[in-house]
Amino acid sequence: MNFKIIGTGRACPACVKTNDDLTEFLDTSDEWIRTRTGIEERHVMQDGESISQLAVQAARAALENAETDPSELDFVICSTIRGDYITPSMACIVARDLGVRCMAFDLNAACSGFIYALDCAAGYFERGRAKKGLIVSAEAMSKMVDWQDRATCVLFGDAAGAAVLELGDNVLASQLSSNGNVDALNIPHVYGNSPFSHDDAQPSYLHMDGHEVYKFAVNAMATGLAETIQAAGLEQSQIDHVLPHQANMRIIQSAMKKLSIPHDRYRININRYGNTSSACIPVLLDELNQAGKLERGQILALTAFGGGLTNGAMVLRW
Ligand code: ACO
Repeated sequence: MNFKIIGTGRACPACVKTNDDLTEFLDTSDEWIRTRTGIEERHVMQDGESISQLAVQAARAALENAETDPSELDFVICSTIRGDYITPSMACIVARDLGVRCMAFDLNAACSGFIYALDCAAGYFERGRAKKGLIVSAEAMSKMVDWQDRATCVLFGDAAGAAVLELGDNVLASQLSSNGNVDALNIPHVYGNSPFSHDDAQPSYLHMDGHEVYKFAVNAMATGLAETIQAAGLEQSQIDHVLPHQANMRIIQSAMKKLSIPHDRYRININRYGNTSSACIPVLLDELNQAGKLERGQILALTAFGGGLTNGAMVLRW
């Protein structure tokens, strides 16, 4: 036994910035961003908003959708690159605001975080440690990018997505990997003021070698999906919905060419959100669920890549 997903939710900051809005302070254009990435607008947090608050909103929406009382939860796992605090974890704050005291911890696998969290959760169900659990992926990317670096800041947005899981047997196969590449994508830590070590403080901004990540991403998505679908004992034509990490439309299109999944099965919302890291897939999942586009029994294939460089794929029955 592993799990089935019984509810989904999402939350986004109210403030939406279009590509044209960014040209007010950045040497860029709507045409460049749209044609190179597929992004048209993104949500960004403003004063007074916290990523933990967004995570709690998404969690409450998923619990309502699952008709589940928080007291039924056996775990809260949050995937995030960086919550509001290094400690306590975002998951502890979410659990507190939901009024529960079950185990709660964060997991950081960058943009692959939601799939890593699902896979981790499957272990708790398999070991009989859980009957219901909550996963929340929440990312404040606007607080981590350098807004003077046009090659990166235009790509990202803020959001939170959540899913409620219940004991079941709907996970058919999954695959996780990492290669330890630091240079392709990293965000340095902010250091304290130890009198015993004097590391040069670096600005804590996201650095990315776009070409390197691009090459990795296309191959990782195509290979990871193909192998995971095969491990599930399925043909690629049997996948009803592909939910790819929404980093760049051209990456998704390049991966599509290497696979034989019909192109109308790929679900896309990058135009409205940009790359919200590990929140991309649960936000997309919730949009499909709320729009009534997922039918029980259909096969979903999730695929993501991110800093680390991590890669994750999962095939599951809705
Ligand atoms: N507006 C206008 N021009 C720009 C912008 C911008 N926002 N950004 C870069 N340019 C310019 C560059 O300066 C360069 O100009 P030059 O030729 O005069 O030097 C030109 O556009 C081309 O730059 P490239 O970097 O070659 O552009 P490319 O077509 O490769 O697209 C991009 C860059 C979008 C970053 C692409 O490489 C990409 O998508 N990479 C993968 C990124 C990704 O997936 N990141 C998420 C990782 S997941 C995670 O864990 C966070």
